[in-house]
Amino acid sequence: MKGVIFTHLQEMIESEQGFQVWDAILERCDLASGGVFVATERYPDEELFAIVTELSTVTDTAINDLLGVFGEYLFVNLHKSMPPEVFAPLTLWDLLKGLDSIIHMEVKKLDKKAQPPSLTVVRSSDKEMVLEYRSAKKLCHLAMGMLKSAAAMFDEDVTLAMPLCIHDGHDHCELVITRHV
Ligand code: HEM
Repeated sequence: MKGVIFTHLQEMIESEQGFQVWDAILERCDLASGGVFVATERYPDEELFAIVTELSTVTDTAINDLLGVFGEYLFVNLHKSMPPEVFAPLTLWDLLKGLDSIIHMEVKKLDKKAQPPSLTVVRSSDKEMVLEYRSAKKLCHLAMGMLKSAAAMFDEDVTLAMPLCIHDGHDHCELVITRHV
C-alpha cells in the first residue's frame, strides 16, 4: 500500500485522537517500518490492518466503521492532491465513471507499482449507479467511506448500500449509490 494512505491515517489519528494515541498504537503494533511513513514509498498492507485493528481496540469502535470514517477523511485529502488539469469532474456521476479510467489510471501512471482497486460501473441511470469493487485488499468499507465523502463534496443526497460483499465469500463487492433528487 502506498505511503500516502499511511500518512493520511497518521494525520487523522493524531488530529482526532492525539499524538499520544498514535505513539501508543505504534508501540503496540511493533511494525517492521517502525511507523515512519513516506508518502511516495510502499509498505506492507498488514501494517495498515495492524494500525486499524489497534485503533479499534483503543477507541472501542468496529474495524469496518473505522475504515469508513478513514475513507471519508482520505477522499477529501486525496482529492485535494489531484491537479484539476488532470481531472475536474463536474458531477458525482462523472467522478465515479472516471475512477478506473482516469483517477486510478493516473495513480498507476505516476507509480508503476501502485495497486489501486478495480472500480467499474456495471449499471447506471440518473437515479442509481452500481459499482463493482475488486481488490485482494478487501477494503470495501474504505471505498464506501470515500463514496460518502465524494457525494458530500457534490452536495448530493445519496444512500449507499453494499448488497454483495467480498467478506461474505463473493469474488467482488457491489456498491450501490442511490440519488434522492
Ligand atoms: C470515490 C472515490 C474513490 C474511491 C471509492 C477510491 C477507492 C480506493 C480504495 C478502496 C483504495 C484502497 C486499495 C484497495 O482497495 O485495493 C484506493 C487506493 C488508492 N486511491 Fe482511490 N478511490 C477514490 C478516489 C481517489 C482519488 C480522488 C485519488 C487521488 C489521486 C485516489 C488515489 C488512490 C491512491 C494513491 C491509492 C493507493 C494505491 C496503492 O496503494 O498503490 N483515489 N482507492
